[in-house]
Amino acid sequence: MSAHRSWQGKVFIATSLDGYIARVDGDIAWLTDPPPNAGHAKPHAGQPVIPGYEEHLASVDHLVMGRGTYEKVLTFGFWPYPQQQVIVLSRTLATDDSRVTVATSTEEALTLLAERGSTAVYVDGGKVIQDWLRRGLIDDIVLTRAPVLLGRGIPLFGPLDTDVHLIHLATTFNDTGMTSSHYRVAVPTGIG
Ligand SMILES: NC(=O)c1ccc[n+]([C@@H]2O[C@H](COP(=O)([O-])OP(=O)(O)OC[C@H]3O[C@@H](n4cnc5c(N)ncnc54)[C@H](OP(=O)(O)O)[C@@H]3O)[C@@H](O)[C@H]2O)c1
Repeated sequence: MSAHRSWQGKVFIATSLDGYIARVDGDIAWLTDPPPNAGHAKPHAGQPVIPGYEEHLASVDHLVMGRGTYEKVLTFGFWPYPQQQVIVLSRTLATDDSRVTVATSTEEALTLLAERGSTAVYVDGGKVIQDWLRRGLIDDIVLTRAPVLLGRGIPLFGPLDTDVHLIHLATTFNDTGMTSSHYRVAVPTGIG
């Protein structure tokens, strides 16, 4: 965590083995509703069992997500964050959804988090994660990989101004074929 903020930035996300968080059109059914012949399908019939998710969610007081992710969450048919305050980053979204606060810039989101005394933030959405990694706002990453290759899609990671070094804490797997790796982002040393 930076000396300049009170909260930890936490990523908890699932990708295909080739690193995509969604298909190009935003579809994530390969993750949430895999076909019967998929390695991760059998044990959890329609529900993505991502190891550690409940504990992760219970550990955060805020989510900051991009509009793309928010719009996907709205299709779930239930609101998955009853205990957390949710900030949606968007320059275009007009909504009267009282469950979220829209921030039009990262700076606005950071002000809200500081005003509200946040201690832990779940950062979600490919574009937002890439931007917040570049800004040094991510401290902790749990990356779960589903045993599927998509070939194309929305990538989790993207260009960086400097290398981001990670400390591997643990890798777990379960009988769904999902592997979860937990990393702490190393404090930058000034060496790229
Ligand atoms: N596999 C998983 O575990 C997982 C997890 C999360 C999401 N997803 C999937 O990923 C897809 C969405 O990811 P994504 O990378 O396309 O989008 P995203 O990061 O969720 O949202 C991108 C949008 O957020 C807004 N935004 C981002 N940074 C901003 C900033 N600094 N200031 C103001 N607005 C900002 C912009 O909205 P405006 O255009 O409105 O300005 C931008 O177009 C969805 O399909 C979702 O289902 C998958």
